[in-house]
Amino acid sequence: MQIWNVKSILDWAINYFKNKEIPHPRLSAELLLSSVLKLTRINLYLNYNRVLNKQELALYKKYILKRLQHVPIQYILKEAYFRKIKLYVDTGVLIPRPETELIIDKVFQLLKDNPAMGKINILEIGTGSGAISISIAYEISGELGIPDIPWQVIATDNNAGVLEIAEKNARDILDSSKFEKLEFIECDLVPETDSDFFKCFEKKFNIIVSNPPYISEEDYKNLPREIKEYEPKSALLAGETGFEIYEKILLKIKPYLSPEFCYILFETDPGKSTSLRKMSEDIIGPKTIGIEKDHNQRDRIMIIEV
Ligand SMILES: C[S@@+](CC[C@H](N)C(=O)[O-])C[C@H]1O[C@@H](n2cnc3c(N)ncnc32)[C@H](O)[C@@H]1O
Repeated sequence: MQIWNVKSILDWAINYFKNKEIPHPRLSAELLLSSVLKLTRINLYLNYNRVLNKQELALYKKYILKRLQHVPIQYILKEAYFRKIKLYVDTGVLIPRPETELIIDKVFQLLKDNPAMGKINILEIGTGSGAISISIAYEISGELGIPDIPWQVIATDNNAGVLEIAEKNARDILDSSKFEKLEFIECDLVPETDSDFFKCFEKKFNIIVSNPPYISEEDYKNLPREIKEYEPKSALLAGETGFEIYEKILLKIKPYLSPEFCYILFETDPGKSTSLRKMSEDIIGPKTIGIEKDHNQRDRIMIIEV
């Protein structure tokens, strides 16, 4: 019987993935093996001669078979890393993307530049796994330069199953004092103006963050198999043009905007930023609109100063 050690099985898996044209063959092989052996990727290389036992081999084989079906690694391992936290994910929620991490830096920068006097109310629309809201809550008090002010984060989604995952993540990641300041609400973008919620938060939100679905029907057809077959369509597809949800948010959010200190932050597709700017100007009439580039120098975060 063949004996498999870390080196031989990695070589085999990388080669196998390459032959089957699986994206990122080395990364896939290493991440899956790291998880099976509970070793970091670097430690795989320091344990090249470690022999795999029967259970480890069986689990690795199971993961490899899933990867051959193009299942994203995060869904195979049921975990995704985002900034400083590790989230539970499954095919019910979008896998949080590295470029989305930038929106949190922007939130913290605004809080540093505009030390507000009272409580800060932050609203996230379309929370998915909870990546953005939980990161804000997790990092806010430790962030250097942010005044020690009271805060609250409200995160919405229109999908009850998604919110269950987000809430589970929040409970697992945050300590109880922070968990209490984060509230999840099921609604269409934001609660209607005849709700008790509105009575509480009319003109009260200082920062509104959203990475909404912004893919057009045409672009959706051309997405890679990994995304189209496994990630929730409702988290990606906005409609025929891709601007439908942005427009709905801008219209629906107006009565919630604080007249004192208020910013709307959108993640955007680089190809949509010019039209989104125009739409935001027309609907909100903001003081300023800025764009932050991602690590590839592409327009990524739109900052609308109300
Ligand atoms: C692109 S995903 C973003 C998820 C997460 N915020 C992130 O950045 O990884 C968009 C999210 O918006 C939610 N969504 C779509 N339409 C919505 C609506 N009308 N009201 C509230 N949430 C909505 C989807 O369920 C999904 O979780």
